[in-house]
Amino acid sequence: MDKYLIKTLAVFLVAILASNSSFAQNGLANAVSNENDPKMNWWHMAKFGMFIHWGIYSVPAGKYNDDISQGEWIMNRCRIPLNEYKNYARKFNPTKFNAEEWVLLAKAAGQKYIVITAKHHDGFAMFKSAASAYNVYDATRFKRDPLKELADACRKYGIKLGFYYSQAQDWSHKGGAAKGGHWDKVAQDGSMDKYIDSIAVPQVKELLTNYGDIAELWWDTPNDMDAAKAKKLAELIKLQPGIITNNRLGGNIGGDLETPEQFIPSTGFPGKNWEVCMTMNEHWGYNAYDENWKSSKDILYKLIDITSKGGNFLLNVGPTSEGIIPQVCVNTLKDVGTWLQINGDAIYGTTASPFNYLSWGRATRKGQKVYLHVFNWPKSGLLKIPFTNKVVKAYLMEDSTELLNASIANGKVVLRLPKYAPDKIASVIVVEFKGEPMVEPKLTDGVLAVASSEAGQQMGIRNIFDGNPKSTWSAAIGTKKATIVIDLKQAKSLGCFSIVEPWYPWDHRTQKIILEYKLGEKWKTLFEGDTNGTGQTESFKPVDARYLRLSIVNDIDAPKLSELILYPTAD
Ligand code: GLC
Repeated sequence: MDKYLIKTLAVFLVAILASNSSFAQNGLANAVSNENDPKMNWWHMAKFGMFIHWGIYSVPAGKYNDDISQGEWIMNRCRIPLNEYKNYARKFNPTKFNAEEWVLLAKAAGQKYIVITAKHHDGFAMFKSAASAYNVYDATRFKRDPLKELADACRKYGIKLGFYYSQAQDWSHKGGAAKGGHWDKVAQDGSMDKYIDSIAVPQVKELLTNYGDIAELWWDTPNDMDAAKAKKLAELIKLQPGIITNNRLGGNIGGDLETPEQFIPSTGFPGKNWEVCMTMNEHWGYNAYDENWKSSKDILYKLIDITSKGGNFLLNVGPTSEGIIPQVCVNTLKDVGTWLQINGDAIYGTTASPFNYLSWGRATRKGQKVYLHVFNWPKSGLLKIPFTNKVVKAYLMEDSTELLNASIANGKVVLRLPKYAPDKIASVIVVEFKGEPMVEPKLTDGVLAVASSEAGQQMGIRNIFDGNPKSTWSAAIGTKKATIVIDLKQAKSLGCFSIVEPWYPWDHRTQKIILEYKLGEKWKTLFEGDTNGTGQTESFKPVDARYLRLSIVNDIDAPKLSELILYPTAD
């Protein structure tokens, strides 16, 4: 051990033996359900849902004067007074809307549930509401209740239906909250308690009584919510026993779902129910100018990645003011659906991958089967699976009659594959095995780590190895730089790492990181770059190392990290 290390150890005295046992204590105190709650069963089976952001903001289609970058936030971001914004309601007449077509599209995509915006922050209800005439039935020429039509179509085709409801922000009713403050004092100023009592509570009551069984209630942006206000809304949940709620109500009420938005948490949320919500281009609400569409391949990888980490995928579409789901979305969704028709068993009802890391793809599990989703078909024809269990049989999902040869070499099962991948995006191999998966331990299990500073006990360095992405290490408040030195206790072969950063919703903060390993007396760089503010996995040219150093610079805040995981050399 060199002088640097001895000094660090002596000065900071925070050598921590990493352990996995603190997860339970650090779990979300307010979450009302965990992974095993029976009401979550259908949701765990489902894996894939359709999010729909539809409202009168589809009329401007993202454009206000010269600004073409807007979506459902257009009223707020462009400071449009209510009287002017109401013109969009007058123009809204989605005569091409056909609830059955939307539901059949979700079905064709292999999606099992739909969550639609019943009222977004603009305050306009997309359903017939007695609580406010500012709704699609009373304030447009359309004179129909699309949520009623959707509820009927969902029931007819066996798709579950959930509602998104913006409970706190409401830019069109007096007392509703508004990020950045009210800009139309006459229309917006007022008592928030009164708004909750006269608009939010009655409308949520309507949504939970007039549309049959509602599967999910999706709260959003708890601006200015406090415990008393949130409680009034939370109580309404009783109207739909078995409904699933998310964690965005506010007032310290947890809900059932973690809601990572626009990113896939690099380790998932072990033990929690979580649902990634994501757009197919860069907007939730319809924007006619946004052509930055994710490819079918990208969406499918994301579905597999999320499922392999134990989560659900709620994928958004933003229909036009005519009631049409953009054709690009239709095409992509159908591509995913085609893949799921063959490979659905490897997604629906599965649990997270037993493996910490796979260089060639992802895995999911159902009891004594692991499904290997191979993204990079090995040129050698040999696929290495980092476990040593007895393989009963292995076969391609597309053809269970052809058994694949399985052997064990260097502590790994090796499968001999056909020359060509059966699927050009992700080919699934089913491996039936005996016993509990005996996977390689994480390299960070039981290691010694020292941080240049800690922001108190609660934010100690041990948090980055505890397997709980919700507990966080922070450097001392006021610092902008930090270093973590890790001693793996013996030289190990490394090829990859994952970090989890504490997610600040709607405020992705990135950090600069450098990961180095010690070669002789010198530190050598393995990875250098900006994080994405949520967490990521990076691989590098494999090395053998015992000591690692992670330097972090955070321009806004004290450096923070929730997890750090090192993986062996990638195969
Ligand atoms: C954000 C936005 C919103 C969008 C939602 C979807 O909170 O405020 O416009 O509906 O995320 O997750």
